[in-house]
Amino acid sequence: MAFVTGAGQGVGRAIAQRFGAEGAAVAVTDVNIVAARAVAEEVLAAGGRAIAIGVDVTDYDGVGSAVDSTVTEFGRLDIVVNNAGNVGTDARGWTMKPFWTTEPDEWQSFINVNLFGVLNVCRHAIPVLIEQGVGGRLISIVSDAARTGEPKLEVYAAAKAGAAGFTRSIAKSVGRYNITANSIALGTMWGPGYAAMDCEQLAERMKPYLIRRPGQPEEAAALAAHLASAEADWITGQTYPLNGGISTS
Ligand SMILES: NC(=O)c1ccc[n+]([C@@H]2O[C@H](COP(=O)([O-])OP(=O)(O)OC[C@H]3O[C@@H](n4cnc5c(N)ncnc54)[C@H](O)[C@@H]3O)[C@@H](O)[C@H]2O)c1
Repeated sequence: MAFVTGAGQGVGRAIAQRFGAEGAAVAVTDVNIVAARAVAEEVLAAGGRAIAIGVDVTDYDGVGSAVDSTVTEFGRLDIVVNNAGNVGTDARGWTMKPFWTTEPDEWQSFINVNLFGVLNVCRHAIPVLIEQGVGGRLISIVSDAARTGEPKLEVYAAAKAGAAGFTRSIAKSVGRYNITANSIALGTMWGPGYAAMDCEQLAERMKPYLIRRPGQPEEAAALAAHLASAEADWITGQTYPLNGGISTS
């Protein structure tokens, strides 16, 4: 049984679809309940099991209720994917500007969603996993910016680095319960912004990538599925780059 945050579109949607296709019941959660419902419908239409839950990962109590209703619906919890994130924009539409031109209130949404969101979900999910006594999987979707840094996205990078550091640390705490915890550090993924680019713009944007295209959400879902599988029983405390080779160590 998988609980996926930010599953209403993009990478989270692909993860929900993949897990559903592999037979896991999926709690498709998103702050956008309309989007979550649509993805849950897709999973159901493909023959899987799913429920949609509207929840903001920054709402500690709301996340607790979402975990509770998931366990009530499916009777258990096995896999938790912390995918919800805000990729360099906040509610005010702020996108990539020098850190020294920003104000403290502009940092909040990056830290709240990308770091506190992960803490909120893990705080509620881990006691359930421990209580069940059969292990479990925690997967955090972070960014290559967490490993290599990113100019004009310093606060986002810091929040993602925090999430990756937390995930490594929690791996050390929950390993004795056979719960694994790993992060996937994504490079640029395909999204609507790229559809609007012409070939030249796309080629320019992709120059730093050894494989010169954005990643596909399904590629992230494939790695998440592997980390969630029995084959990955002995993989924990790791941060996996999935980035077309934009960084190589
Ligand atoms: N797209 C990229 O190029 C890229 C690169 C590196 C890392 N990432 C990370 O991968 C993850 C998925 O990215 P994506 O491109 O699919 O993002 P996206 O913006 O396409 O989708 C994110 C989803 O999360 C939901 N969400 C946002 N804030 C939320 C909140 N507070 N509570 C619950 N749900 C919330 C949104 O409604 C949306 O459905 C994010 O954590 C992102 O930071 C993305």
